[in-house]
Amino acid sequence: MNARVHDITMTVNGEETRATVDARKTLVDFLRDDAALTGSHIGCEHGVCGACSVRVDGAVVRGCLMLAVQCDGARVETIEGVAETDEITDLQEAFIARNALQCGYCTPGMLLTAQELLAAGGGVPSREQIRVHLSGNYCRCTGYQAIVDAVEAVAKARHSAQGTR
Ligand code: FES
Ligand code: FES
Repeated sequence: MNARVHDITMTVNGEETRATVDARKTLVDFLRDDAALTGSHIGCEHGVCGACSVRVDGAVVRGCLMLAVQCDGARVETIEGVAETDEITDLQEAFIARNALQCGYCTPGMLLTAQELLAAGGGVPSREQIRVHLSGNYCRCTGYQAIVDAVEAVAKARHSAQGTR
């Protein structure tokens, strides 16, 4: 086999996926081009904007900074898979209700990163904590206020729901 291509197997949104990929292919290019999962977006392509955020083995990573071959054997989750599980339905609804998206380019990465913060536990994060956690995800449209509003509202709602169980 050409030394530049490798056979890999990864679990993508719960399904085992096998492919032969160029060693230089990024994870986000693999997901978009080979797996037809275009919810992960490509912005800066050098780790700054967060548009390409996906989860690998449970951690949110930059899909443009990982190579597909590095994910051989890994569990990869994209916005499509996470949305299907209902894990972020309340966040998605809050983003819509508060106009926390306009063009939507940043939104998949924002949602995954916000969910990472909220799922970490530790009570309701402050607005400052939300801003810091989302600071690696750039939005050119909203000015961030509505995004912080939406994440804060969901954090409070989840917290009170826990209290009533
Ligand atoms: S495209 Fe990956 S961080 Fe911007
Ligand atoms: S909604 Fe357009 S970049 Fe965030």
